[in-house]
Amino acid sequence: MNKNLSSFIFLTTLLISLLSNGYAQTKTIDQKVDSVLKLMTLNEKVGQMNQYNGDWDATGPITETGDKQDQIRKGMLGSMLNVTGVEHTTELQKMAMQSRLKIPLLFGQDIIHGYRTVFPIPLGEAASWDMNAIEQSARIAATEASAAGIHWTFAPMVDIARDPRWGRVMEGAGEDPYLGSMIATARVKGFQGKGLGHTDALMACAKHYTAYGAAIGGRDYNSVDMSLNTLWNIYLPPFKAAEEAGVATFMNSFNTLNGIPATGNKYLQTDILKGQWKFKGFIVSDWNSVGEMIPHGFAKDAYDASVKAANAGNDMDMESRSYIQNLAKAVRDGKVPMARIDDAVRRILRKKFELGLFNNPFKFSNKEREQQQWNNPKNLAIEKTMAEKSIVLLKNKNQLLPLNKENLKGKTIALIGPFIKGVRDNLGFWSYTWPDDSARIISPYDGIKNKAGNDVNIVYAKGCNINDTSLAGFVEAIELAKKADIVIMDVGEAPDWSGEAKSRSNIHLPGVQEQLVKVIAETGKPLIVMISAGRPLIFNWIADNVPSILYAWWLGTEAGDAMADVLFGDYNPSGKLPMSFPRTEGQIPIYYNHLNTGRPAKNDSDLNYVSSYIDLPNSPKFPFGYGLSYTTFSYGDISLSAKSFKPNETLTASVTISNTGKYNGTETVQLYIRDMVASVVQPVKELKGFQQIFLKAGESKKVTFKLTANDLKFYNEKLNYVYEPGDFKIFIGTNSNDVKEADFTLQ
Ligand code: BGC
Repeated sequence: MNKNLSSFIFLTTLLISLLSNGYAQTKTIDQKVDSVLKLMTLNEKVGQMNQYNGDWDATGPITETGDKQDQIRKGMLGSMLNVTGVEHTTELQKMAMQSRLKIPLLFGQDIIHGYRTVFPIPLGEAASWDMNAIEQSARIAATEASAAGIHWTFAPMVDIARDPRWGRVMEGAGEDPYLGSMIATARVKGFQGKGLGHTDALMACAKHYTAYGAAIGGRDYNSVDMSLNTLWNIYLPPFKAAEEAGVATFMNSFNTLNGIPATGNKYLQTDILKGQWKFKGFIVSDWNSVGEMIPHGFAKDAYDASVKAANAGNDMDMESRSYIQNLAKAVRDGKVPMARIDDAVRRILRKKFELGLFNNPFKFSNKEREQQQWNNPKNLAIEKTMAEKSIVLLKNKNQLLPLNKENLKGKTIALIGPFIKGVRDNLGFWSYTWPDDSARIISPYDGIKNKAGNDVNIVYAKGCNINDTSLAGFVEAIELAKKADIVIMDVGEAPDWSGEAKSRSNIHLPGVQEQLVKVIAETGKPLIVMISAGRPLIFNWIADNVPSILYAWWLGTEAGDAMADVLFGDYNPSGKLPMSFPRTEGQIPIYYNHLNTGRPAKNDSDLNYVSSYIDLPNSPKFPFGYGLSYTTFSYGDISLSAKSFKPNETLTASVTISNTGKYNGTETVQLYIRDMVASVVQPVKELKGFQQIFLKAGESKKVTFKLTANDLKFYNEKLNYVYEPGDFKIFIGTNSNDVKEADFTLQ
């Protein structure tokens, strides 16, 4: 045989075998799904679309219980949430195995920022801008939770948040669609690991689809009214990114969007998600959100709600019992096509097959694996690093930080504030209570004391409670501060003050904490304030008067050790704010990527018939992307490969960054653009790239970004994703406000 012919035959055979293997794999699962579907009665199909709460934590009103066990045995339940632990999941799965078709149950749980090892709240992790670290955090959460029999996490929450009054800002990645999309991808990859079917992979769930973060007035569950343009350009991108990263499921949301509840919204679920984006997973409702279409005024009763939700594309009903009580009848009445039910059930069964549950329904419930994940030292060490990366240095006047252990020998540090000895306070909302939790959570007090060692005298006063009106503890705290050489305070928000249904109209530091800081500052002692909170808070007096401020969010299990590492310079802070921090609530909503208006203010004091307040500057207290280091970085001018480029070409933009301070440090170099004239007005700045670089003291590095026309795309009036030739500005800098700029043209 001639050589060419034989290699042709070889390649063709290889190709055929590759194709047929890939095809066979999908076909096998689809065939299996169909073979199960064929055996199912209508009631059993609707059963798969039904999800009940177990008995752990409830996040909404619980509908009447009925006999859940009995329903599992009858095959009337597809999934449960808030059921965890090997014993419990095994017990319930055994009941499912008594049902006629033995279809395994799916166990879902809100693994939002860790399971056994609690990681920083997602907004805190977002401040790290470190995608590998964020992915790894999700990976560990998945490893721990999947070992306890859980198959599915209701995370990542990818809602864009421009309103810090909304308590759920803590669960997301902040205000920016680009950063939000990167983080959505990292979290999906982390949770799903090497893919469904591996025993350490959880199905992820992109939520809350969609626009939930734009609830009016920042009040949770409220209505959303927004242009399709804002929806597509700002709120949808992180969902699209999650879909592209292969997220297994989506959860819809409580809010209405332009008058239509998201749960009953066909445009969102069927047209965009399952249609344009070709999403192959399934959509679960939010807790009782099918039933809540009745008070919204969109559905007459539970029957009507089921019809509307199912027809709009919602596949699974979480806890409202509307589907289980009405959907079969709605199909018999001809209100919901059988094809829609089959589609929903196929989507759900496909995931159960992919997870490998049909082969072994108990695959995830393994006592030995569960034990290995409890207090796992490797996981705790990774949590500490994640916590360090999440801390943002807001101010460091006169280089008060980092503290030097040698210089402090024989001296006294006063630790003051309601968080200093807090144990669960730094875990934050969406963290679970374990019987022995006090043993494994490092309080700031413990962390600092361990780090300082025996040669430094550590004294403590609480001063006040987190949300208190009493000044009774002030005197003791002042006396203590007077005797100390340096004071470290930890103040903030109680762990249940940000989170679901935790909207606040007043986002100042609660209680008398800021007053406490003032009286301690009056002692004249060098003062460092750490703020532990679930959202951007307002603390203007502290910001203006305290020399050193660290924003610590809620840092998780290892909070105290991470804080100590940062305070003593074992970790040089590198976090950057993922949300703008307002000066007062009156500025909200506040975000850096706003439009210019026809009358933009030239600066904060420009009040001459421009778009501004007469009693308040427009600028935030701390801008998006802001965060200091113990060292200083200087930015050279932007050098562009060309002044003008064509759509099929690449433009490179370079900047030399120098570490001009005394410490080695990491800087997040941020790139923004502005499209100067467009068919739809574009924001004054939009993040389009960032790079993290490590520079030794005195070192310089050139950082290069590549831009193509694709980076300049936006959804136009017709919602087509396009770039438009014309003039652009490019900005590169250390935060959204402090940037170098240059101009270029797209031909
Ligand atoms: C929340 C969801 C959560 C669900 C299950 C709802 O109240 O909005 O984010 O996943 O409860 O706990």
